[in-house]
Amino acid sequence: MGKKGVILSGMRPTGRLQLGNLLGALDNWIKMQEDYYCYFSVVDWHALTTEYEDPGDIRANVKEMVIDWLSAGLDPEKCIIFKQSEVKEHAELHLLLSMIAPLSWLERCPTYKDQILQLKEKDLATYGFLGYPLLQSADIMIYRADAVPVGEDQAPHIELTREIARRFNHLYGEVFPEPQTILNIVKLLPGVDGRKMSKSYGNTINMSASPQEIKEKVRLMITDPQRIRKNDPGNPEVCTVFAFHKIFNPPGVKEIEELCRNGEIGCVQCKKLLADQMIESLEPIYEKRQELLEKPEYIDEILNNGRVTAQEKARETMGKVREAMKL
Ligand code: TRP
Ligand code: SF4
Repeated sequence: MGKKGVILSGMRPTGRLQLGNLLGALDNWIKMQEDYYCYFSVVDWHALTTEYEDPGDIRANVKEMVIDWLSAGLDPEKCIIFKQSEVKEHAELHLLLSMIAPLSWLERCPTYKDQILQLKEKDLATYGFLGYPLLQSADIMIYRADAVPVGEDQAPHIELTREIARRFNHLYGEVFPEPQTILNIVKLLPGVDGRKMSKSYGNTINMSASPQEIKEKVRLMITDPQRIRKNDPGNPEVCTVFAFHKIFNPPGVKEIEELCRNGEIGCVQCKKLLADQMIESLEPIYEKRQELLEKPEYIDEILNNGRVTAQEKARETMGKVREAMKL
């Protein structure tokens, strides 16, 4: 079949996925499942590093996430979808890697200090949180992955993984490849209010929004604030609706831009065109989601099959690791 190699990536189960997740990560994964052996993990242990005081939503969020992945087009016939905490071998490898991971490598990880500052309301001065990137290294190394598709913020964690793999191979003999980083091709979208799209601003759009929700969100979008009357010339560069047209309506962008600059289209009509385009591309996701919600056993079945296949490879790797470390 000539696949190009092994890929692993993961997402923390944080609830329904946003359009940003679709355009920033999932669309890339969906392409890769054709060309690589892909492992995609819902990393619930990673969620626990920050949610340990109140883990009540994690289990439900795992299912939501798998439903969103499948709705968007991940195909369990083509890739392996599993829940991290069901493949215990990740924990064993994490423990063994912790023996050789210098504290300073973990302490200097930029995400470590950053997150502690950003999530001030949580006490993240824990052993588990310091080990977050090392657990991620275990996720990757246990499948001897050749590459990891991630966003730019995660690049230091993949770099750390390469260093850990190198150190392991140096100490105990060649077991692990040094995984490459594949940076996600990100199409940036603003939030509906024109600010950065972020759950904490409440300005996001669910990737599996219903046609009704999409219309409502588009209606709320901020346009060029200088434009008062329908035939005022507008400036699409400052308009949120236009930013969305660029992504959801590439063939129409030039025309919209001209009509807007010449004051030949009203914002209401421009929004209507956008909503139609967004509904056309997102409605299949919404419908697939509705279908999947009807059959929760199917999600369990996928996770179960994924666990079995992931475990095969993870066990094989752990055999090599124990051998190399003389356990
Ligand atoms: N830390 C990643 C994030 O926050 C999630 C993650 C955990 C991951 N393990 C991984 C990503 C392994 C890629 C590979 O997004
Ligand atoms: Fe934005 Fe369209 Fe209105 Fe121009 S016409 S300001 S692009 S919504």
